[in-house]
Amino acid sequence: MRLVLATRNAHKLREFATLLAPHEIVVLPADVVLPPETADTFSGNALEKARTAARATGLPAIADDSGIEAQALGGAPGVRSARYAGEDATDEENLAKLLREAPAGSALAYVCALAYVDADGDERLVEGRCTGTLDPDPRGEGGFGYDPAFLPDDIADGRTMAELEPSEKDAISHRGRAARALLALLDGTQPPWPDR
Ligand code: IMP
Repeated sequence: MRLVLATRNAHKLREFATLLAPHEIVVLPADVVLPPETADTFSGNALEKARTAARATGLPAIADDSGIEAQALGGAPGVRSARYAGEDATDEENLAKLLREAPAGSALAYVCALAYVDADGDERLVEGRCTGTLDPDPRGEGGFGYDPAFLPDDIADGRTMAELEPSEKDAISHRGRAARALLALLDGTQPPWPDR
């Protein structure tokens, strides 16, 4: 199936192209304007973006909204992860703020809501989570965002998410889990809301 991915994030594009194979990921045409992320849930934002892309292209569309939750901060930055240190903040600025505000060793969770919407109005929603802890000494060149300070529970060998091979990250990440749930759903092998 050809699926339009409603994102401008090159990292997400690369991860989803691998995760959703053999489906073909089509880049969102440049003239499609994605809605602002104003919902207070990951799923609300993901659905709005997928609806916009499906309407604009006539193709089945997928969109994710993702972020990181710190238990010590009551779940912040959450849906505001990309804008944590300000509207146009860089990944480095957002990570620096998390390191200032959450203590070393804080429990963290990456969350990914992934929406599928097609031209017939069929809508599916899945969620993936990946838990870990905050490492005060950021390191690693892989991944993006908060990965240099995220110690994943699933691979507990001292490497941060940014030090994992892409295939290792895909196997345990929130995005990987959501993508596999969506694949199963599209294949009809799993009921909705599998990862709750
Ligand atoms: P979105 O584009 O609104 O979904 O923003 C997602 C934000 O959450 C990114 O800008 C990152 O700050 C963070 N994030 C989501 N997924 C990851 C990941 O896999 N690694 C690191 N940071 C992530």
